Parts: sequence; C-alpha cells; structure tokens
Amino acid sequence: MALLSALRLDLPPASGNSILVTSAAPAEGKTTIASSLAITAALAGHASLFIDADLQSTSPSMVGGYRNPGLTEFLTGEVSGSELILRQRLSTDHREGHSLSIMKREERFNTMLSLLDWTAARKVFTALALDYDIVFVDSPPILAADDALFLARIVDAAILVINTGTSNLDEVRQSRELLEKTGTPLLGAVLNRFEPKTHGHSNKPYRDYHRR
Ligand SMILES: Nc1ncnc2c1ncn2[C@@H]1O[C@H](COP(=O)(O)OP(=O)(O)OP(=O)(O)O)[C@@H](O)[C@H]1O
Ligand SMILES: [Mg+2]
Repeated sequence: MALLSALRLDLPPASGNSILVTSAAPAEGKTTIASSLAITAALAGHASLFIDADLQSTSPSMVGGYRNPGLTEFLTGEVSGSELILRQRLSTDHREGHSLSIMKREERFNTMLSLLDWTAARKVFTALALDYDIVFVDSPPILAADDALFLARIVDAAILVINTGTSNLDEVRQSRELLEKTGTPLLGAVLNRFEPKTHGHSNKPYRDYHRR
C-alpha cells in the first residue's frame, strides 16, 4: 500500500496513469510486484487494470490462461480493449464489489511487439488507460527482449524492480540507461526481497546505484 501511495504521488496528474513494471533480468519479481500493485489499487477502490505484456515468458501467467487475439491486435487497432479485458471480482462479499480488470497474456511466443509502430500503439494504449485510474503493465526483462523498451515508449512511466539478492548492478545500470533513452520517466526502483537482517547494514551497492 505504501508503494502504491508513493507511485500515485510520484505520477504528475497531467502525465497519465500507466506504469510499466520492468527489470534488467528474469525472475526479479516484476510479475509479483505488478500484480500486487494492481490488486492493492483495486482493493482500495480504484479502477485498476493489470496487463500481462510478457509475451515471451516461459513462466506461467500470474493471472492464469491466455487470450488470443491479444495485446498485439489491440495495439494495432484490430480489436478493442473492451473485447480483451476481463473483470475479476476480488472479494467474496458481493456487497464489496471490488474488481480488478485484466488483460491476459497473448499466447504467441514468436510475436515481437517491438516490430509494431510505437507512436500508433501509444495512441491506442493512452485512450484505453483513460478508462482506468491506474494501469500496471507487466513486462519482460529489459536485457532479454526488445519488447520491454517498446512498452516503455507507450506507457507514461516505469519502475525498475531489483532483486536485492541476485540482481547484477551493472545490468541494472545498463537497464536504467536504456529506459532513460526512451524518454519515459523512471519513477524509481523497488528493492524486492529485501531482508533487513541480510541487507540492512550492508546495502552500500544500492546506495551507490541511487547516487549515480
Ligand atoms: N518478495 C518476494 N517474496 C517471495 N517470493 C517472491 C518475491 N518476489 C518474487 N517472488 C517469487 O520469485 C519468483 C519470480 O518472481 P516473478 O515471477 O514475479 O519474477 P519476474 O521478474 O516476473 O520473472 P520473469 O522475468 O520470468 O517474468 C516467483 O516464484 C515469485 O513467486
Ligand atoms: Mg514475470
């Protein structure tokens, strides 16, 4: 909840409401963080949309199942967002009425989003995002697929997930530089799997990362 509040405060009101959750390498916690943020926002009463945009992932989709046509056809204007987006009720108490909107992963491992026209895709995507208070886009790793930087160009802002135990700092810096070149604001980094006992008094490498 604290992270969600920080993100909402960091997003300038006029700059939009879509956030790419990405990282340098696989298995750093992008899907965990993106889906937790989307669910937390929905439970707080916001119109929240989670988009599984990790088309090349070999991990099972966090939201389960696939949907074709999918994100590619949406971004090229062949299908509307409303045809693809499902609403998942989050509470068993019907009076609560909180639900999360979900665009499932497209099952098409050969598709490269990065081959699409990003200016046209950004227009379609921005129009969809207007229907929501906040949109979280779950991304592939930056250094593993060109899709992540394509997605960065169509959203309003990005956050970089760092796995405190395993991330390689050179890769994190390289990813930050690549993200900055897209011109999309980087709101900050999330230190995932931070263990105060292990990392609390010896987090110098991460202090260095923030200073650079
Ligand atoms: N903070 C955490 N605490 C415990 N387990 C975690 C945490 N963050 C991630 N995990 C676990 O680590 C694994 C990788 O996480 P996740 O799938 O979110 O990473 P990812 O960056 O989306 O990976 P990929 O690049 O394959 O899409 C998952 O099994 C997830 O449940
Ligand atoms: Mg993932």
